Amino acid sequence: MSSTIASQILRTRYSDEVKDILQRYPDDQKRSAVMPLLFLAQKEGLQATVSVMSEIAQILEISITQVASIVGFYTLYYAHPGGKNRIQICTDLPCALRGADDFADKVCEKLGVNIGETTEDGEFTVESVMCLAACDKAPMFQIQNGDGISYHERQTISDVQALIEQLSNSETNNSPKDAE
Ligand code: FES
Repeated sequence: MSSTIASQILRTRYSDEVKDILQRYPDDQKRSAVMPLLFLAQKEGLQATVSVMSEIAQILEISITQVASIVGFYTLYYAHPGGKNRIQICTDLPCALRGADDFADKVCEKLGVNIGETTEDGEFTVESVMCLAACDKAPMFQIQNGDGISYHERQTISDVQALIEQLSNSETNNSPKDAE
């Protein structure tokens, strides 16, 4: 058992939802509920923080490492609060061979942040992620925001500049809630 202090928020505030998710799986396979529970947490405005991951691990009687490995693998789960728009640039090897690292540096320079950081106005977070299944279309990235997820392939810095301006002016771009 992890020594990390687990949150109680899912079990207290969302006990019905947690029970409903757990009912979908046999007792000996309840570890399969890890993704629905992570989705529940994020849908309710929580990030997959260590305490939330620890709570999910306790609920499912698995290690926090097993939960963290899911969070680390899927770009749709995130452990840290971010900006309204998460720009997730693929810098995995095939994209790196097509200049993704240099592209990511230029995007960061444009926004005045480093990889993993959020702009001071809270609008944009730039993240480096693994393969997004568009390896022949680098530089490419996905953007997650209140409108969902969108993919942008064969991008130039001019394209990014236009997108940044468009998103900055978007009124439908809802902000994700901060972590507890
Ligand atoms: S390596 Fe970048 S999309 Fe596959």
